[in-house]
Amino acid sequence: MSSLNFVRPTPMTDTLYEYALSFGLREPDHFRALRSETSHFTNREMQIAPEQGPFLAMLVRLLGAKYCVEVGAFTGYSSLWIAGALPPEGKLISCDISEEYTAVARKYWKLTGLDAKIELRLAPAADTLDALLAGGAAGRVDFAFIDADKANYDAYYERCLKLLRAGGLIAIDNTLWDGKVADPQVNDPDTVAIRALNKKLYADERVSLSLLPFADGLTLAMKR
Ligand SMILES: C[S@@+](CC[C@H](N)C(=O)[O-])C[C@H]1O[C@@H](n2cnc3c(N)ncnc32)[C@H](O)[C@@H]1O
Repeated sequence: MSSLNFVRPTPMTDTLYEYALSFGLREPDHFRALRSETSHFTNREMQIAPEQGPFLAMLVRLLGAKYCVEVGAFTGYSSLWIAGALPPEGKLISCDISEEYTAVARKYWKLTGLDAKIELRLAPAADTLDALLAGGAAGRVDFAFIDADKANYDAYYERCLKLLRAGGLIAIDNTLWDGKVADPQVNDPDTVAIRALNKKLYADERVSLSLLPFADGLTLAMKR
């Protein structure tokens, strides 16, 4: 650790986390109900942290985004925040392979009326992104959120980068991967894939970069 690093992230106790959520998360009732329903899934930890929702929405608003792509819908929580920040004519293409998870997503997209802005593509995400590219979407996407199978993160990154317009943004979730990326003893395929992408992104001159130690690590890459 460099002696120049005076400021460290504030240690996150349960009490402080509750405080941060109570003053930082303006969560509509249906969004909260979706989190509650997802809490019964064994894979519930796949959902983004609630405080990431308004952050994603803020990014969408700052970009003035109209056309977004999400890789990994799960039960639809991140989609709600992204689509909720889009203008009426905005569109979110959401990729997933699970009928079971996305049945819950569809239910809440409809309850919130955001279903009109969200198009679910049930197929391997690399195929969906390739289809978008083949269909002429290269250079047209404003914002992409990558949050699916980690082994394919680099494939998603490369495809999303082609889809983005200059000045468009990719947000990549779980880039700190529960700390495993910084532990040389951990070398399972997911950790290795995220570690390799982090290294590649650091040297990637095609993007401006910010790796936020936020939730499980959120990397922002803006296309130059
Ligand atoms: C971490 S979860 C996404 C969480 C979601 N963003 C949220 O806020 O709740 C990852 C999702 O990726 C999906 N997935 C896994 N492999 C995939 C693939 N090859 N193509 C598309 N989706 C995939 C899983 O079905 C799962 O729903």
